[in-house]
Amino acid sequence: MSPKLKIISAACENMGIGKDNNLPWKLKSEMEHFRRMTSKTKDPHKKNVVIMGRKTWDSIPLKYRPMRNRINFVLSRSDLDLRSYEASYSFKNLEECIKKLEDEDFKKLYENAWVIGGSRIYAEAMKSEYFYQLYLTRILKTFDCDTFFPELPDNLVKVSDPDVPEGKQIENDIEFIYNVYQNPNFSN
Ligand SMILES: NC(=O)c1ccc[n+]([C@@H]2O[C@H](COP(=O)([O-])OP(=O)(O)OC[C@H]3O[C@@H](n4cnc5c(N)ncnc54)[C@H](OP(=O)(O)O)[C@@H]3O)[C@@H](O)[C@H]2O)c1
Repeated sequence: MSPKLKIISAACENMGIGKDNNLPWKLKSEMEHFRRMTSKTKDPHKKNVVIMGRKTWDSIPLKYRPMRNRINFVLSRSDLDLRSYEASYSFKNLEECIKKLEDEDFKKLYENAWVIGGSRIYAEAMKSEYFYQLYLTRILKTFDCDTFFPELPDNLVKVSDPDVPEGKQIENDIEFIYNVYQNPNFSN
């Protein structure tokens, strides 16, 4: 079976996702949602893959790098040497990542492939035939941002996931909603 890419992001009202290579907000429960969704597997012997751009990798504090209990894929056009990091691989483009995800031996090791940003990788993933679902936290406030989530395809269908809390969430007086969308080219 072909890989199915799941995308996860949090964006504020102007679709901002980042500022100065950091998150524009501090929302512990949203971070925990990200950790839980990207780490959770049905099969305890498998891990999930997280696919990110080099700047997102750089934005992770050293002590949290690589993201624990997940297989880290980092995209860069230069030769990134990640050999000193456990379960971390670098790729020159998304096609190379897909090839690895399709590798029969590697398939035995992972369950889900999550695209975790930033902008360009989100855009490429949403245009790809492998794009399956988008988990998008809508933060109901505007923050000053320099990095933005790309335009959403207009045919996305809202779906629900029993693992995702419904309705308005609130932390530090900031309201947000966890939305899940599906590419209609996939029936399930
Ligand atoms: N709110 C959220 O959910 C969320 C999620 C993720 C990140 N962020 C924020 O977003 C910002 C970082 O995102 P960003 O968009 O600036 O950068 P990014 O996508 O994380 O990284 C960009 C870099 O990735 C590499 N890259 C991108 N596309 C590639 C491709 N197709 N092939 C090969 N390499 C590719 C390039 O690395 P080289 O320059 O090494 O070639 C490029 O400079 C930070 O502020 C971060 O905190 C927010």
